[in-house]
Amino acid sequence: MATSKLLRTKDVDDVIRQNDDPVGGEAHHTRLSKRLTAWDLMGFGIGIVIGTGIFTLTGIQAKNNAGPAIVVSFAIAGVVSLLAALCYAELAAAVPTAGSSYTYAYTTIGEIFAWIIAWDLILEFALGAAVVSRGWSGYLQDAMNLPTTFFGEESSINLGAMAIALVLGVVAMIGIRESKWVTNALVVVKVSVCVFVIVLGIFFVKAANLTPFVPSSRPVPDGAALSGLKQPLWQWVSGVDATAFGFTGVFVAAAVVFFAYSGFEAVANLGEETKNPAKDMPRGLLGTLAICTVLYILVCLVITGMVSYTDLSEGAPISDAFDQVGMGWASILIAVAAIAGLSSVILVDLVAMGRIGFALCRDGLLPAWIGRVHPKWETPYRVTIGTTAVVMLLAGFIPLDALAEMVSIGTLFAFLVVSIAVVVLRRTRPRMKRPFRTPSVPLLPVVSALCCVGLMTNLAMETWLRFLVWLVIGLVIYGFYGRKHSKLEGASASAETTPVG
Ligand code: ALA
Repeated sequence: MATSKLLRTKDVDDVIRQNDDPVGGEAHHTRLSKRLTAWDLMGFGIGIVIGTGIFTLTGIQAKNNAGPAIVVSFAIAGVVSLLAALCYAELAAAVPTAGSSYTYAYTTIGEIFAWIIAWDLILEFALGAAVVSRGWSGYLQDAMNLPTTFFGEESSINLGAMAIALVLGVVAMIGIRESKWVTNALVVVKVSVCVFVIVLGIFFVKAANLTPFVPSSRPVPDGAALSGLKQPLWQWVSGVDATAFGFTGVFVAAAVVFFAYSGFEAVANLGEETKNPAKDMPRGLLGTLAICTVLYILVCLVITGMVSYTDLSEGAPISDAFDQVGMGWASILIAVAAIAGLSSVILVDLVAMGRIGFALCRDGLLPAWIGRVHPKWETPYRVTIGTTAVVMLLAGFIPLDALAEMVSIGTLFAFLVVSIAVVVLRRTRPRMKRPFRTPSVPLLPVVSALCCVGLMTNLAMETWLRFLVWLVIGLVIYGFYGRKHSKLEGASASAETTPVG
């Protein structure tokens, strides 16, 4: 396999032209319609970001790893996301495309990396949608006392999770406009409830619950959650005894709660459907992240201030905290918001996967017929049907806990590639029009990349192993199909791989 083929790149001008001016009679079927504004992008962003991370992981990680310093873990994960968002914003404004980081990698570091990143994004969004569908089913079971045979984690076939994935798959297929309305409505509900939690909860905060803020480090007993292959990569590699709490615990929790931020980059997948991507993309990306980070930090502070971290519930920490301070009625409201919030995460995951599949088919890395746009709905409906079916299968049969970490590693890997792509594109295309410029290049993207790697090493060894298996499967598919059918096949490899400028 010639290296030049694997590292061939797409011309960035071709990508921009393809979005602005699709050619030939096929145009109608290979182009998405431009309807979205910065507010819509923030709606999508918040729609996919606020979900299981804040509603469930907060309790598990505060109780087992970070204590009240879960606030710091969320802040660390927020800063890492912000650095990546600044890199995304430059690329999303300059190269607005349905493929997002996949296309950025394609125009900078080469086809094989582009494929890997797309494969990684499919993992992130498919598993994310499946995990959150199961979480949704669990919340619904809890709130309405539904039979555990078909709802929640104890079910043998999680029909609740499959049903919600199906319904939202249909919404995603019918159209971007309908997806936008549904998402925006759900976003209003869950942001309101986060604000409600903060404003009401603050009256119940006791300073004693926040001390010690960083509980002292302690060894993890054999067989506990953080031993063996379940311990973070760096502890496993270095042979250091697995520990919980202390500063190590804060970082381990940061890597896991990173899941709570995952998905904001899906906003970048909507570049081709945005009216004015040059301005709206940076606003959409950074606005989403700013709002979510502030809400997360305040919610964590209030919850760990209301109840001692040792007494937090692992399943429903936020509503349970209100129960514990005698505000039972508030927990009903919070359950409703959780159910609404989780629905929008699943919907945006499905919409984003459609766009990635569309971009892969357009580039020949997957068969073109799969990626055709529906003449009326103007969505890549076949991709959405296929991905919805896969998500339903995953959601129906695979338990969610271990899979959430897979979403974190997938997201961090995508951020790593995008940070590198910004630096590479500045060198290879110094004169390209950049409506938004990442500040302090190359320092900021390099720090961003290092932070991503740092958080990744805090994820469990078994997560790394699963991630590597997924990448190997992807490479096999690329070797047998994408490499031979790529639209770049036959084009002059040398011209494409020669840096410009
Ligand atoms: N960020 C999303 C969540 O927390 C995936 O559920």
